[in-house]
Amino acid sequence: EAAQKGGYDTFMLKEIHEQPYAIAETLRGRVEGTDRIILPELDAIHDKFKTFNKAYFVACGTAYHACLSGANILERLTGIPTFTQVASEFRYCDPIVDEKTMCVFVSQSGETADTMAALRLAKEKGCTTIAVANVLGSSISREADHTIYTCAGPEIAVASTKAYTTQLIVLLLLGMYISQALGNENEDYKRIIEGIASLPQHIENILKDEKTFEHYASYLKDLKDTYYIGRSLDYATVLEGALKLKEVSYVHADAYIAGELKHGPIALIEQGSLVIAVATQPNIAAKTISNIQETIARGANVILFTIDGQEVGNVKETYILPDVDPILQSVLVAVPLQLIAYYAAGLKGCDVDKPRNLAKSVTVE
Ligand code: G6P
Repeated sequence: EAAQKGGYDTFMLKEIHEQPYAIAETLRGRVEGTDRIILPELDAIHDKFKTFNKAYFVACGTAYHACLSGANILERLTGIPTFTQVASEFRYCDPIVDEKTMCVFVSQSGETADTMAALRLAKEKGCTTIAVANVLGSSISREADHTIYTCAGPEIAVASTKAYTTQLIVLLLLGMYISQALGNENEDYKRIIEGIASLPQHIENILKDEKTFEHYASYLKDLKDTYYIGRSLDYATVLEGALKLKEVSYVHADAYIAGELKHGPIALIEQGSLVIAVATQPNIAAKTISNIQETIARGANVILFTIDGQEVGNVKETYILPDVDPILQSVLVAVPLQLIAYYAAGLKGCDVDKPRNLAKSVTVE
């Protein structure tokens, strides 16, 4: 097993560090220069994308968080109204879907029982189904109309890391591909493609700041609770950040839409509370940062992930993310949030690769 860990103490840390490679593999052959995204898996339905009047994204756990980002991005890029649903809800909520609906099912293992049941229901209702899976030949890839693989390689740690970021990549590529199919590439298109190609290098650079994130984790040493906040795409990101922390460190973490703080969660903030905030979207970063000030006024320590040029005020720690198109930021911020969870788990003495009560793949309902 030590050999399999490739010199790392745990599979989780190894898999976090594999992300630049896993992302590069997932991009391989799918980005043509700065002009086009290539997904031969979908060429058979290239012309059908014009007929869809809505899109559903369905999954469980971490893959559901990837769906929240993917849906946000698809809507921004194509204008197709999108909906995101947890698979265990989708299968029982009598979803309003038909042959004009495309349904995207995301699953690392390709075997999750609820996701499979949701896929079967969507097929029964006549939807076009697209799976995003990591395991070749998995059940989901056999049953979906079309499958796009993430190329993360085997993920052993229970807490998903490289599978998540490669899912984000495939969903970005999907959004770009559909945008091409609809003929509505906008002026940002080339810049986004260049940005996608640069993500492995940006993640390499972020990983060099590992010690910084280990230091951020030290704020959690004596805490039992923490709060993650963000808006829009950053909300999907903080949901995943909070899940990662809960899974491996057993610290209770809640993720909130920053604008909702004043509607309840702010009542929980007291001297010494920790707020981890993500504000990478230029149109609303200042709004989230203003919410942060309200928590600081009540004694919170804040760790902020943001972009250059923001007036951040009195936060304890600020990490500035690389300058890439806003739709690419969820891939980048994922990495520091994984490392914070990882090092917090270490401080609490937890077995990160095998967290209590959790399974890598949930094949029963
Ligand atoms: C389990 C795992 C999670 C994973 C979820 C969905 O709960 O512990 O890490 O996100 O299942 O798994 P899937 O294989 O469908 O992505």
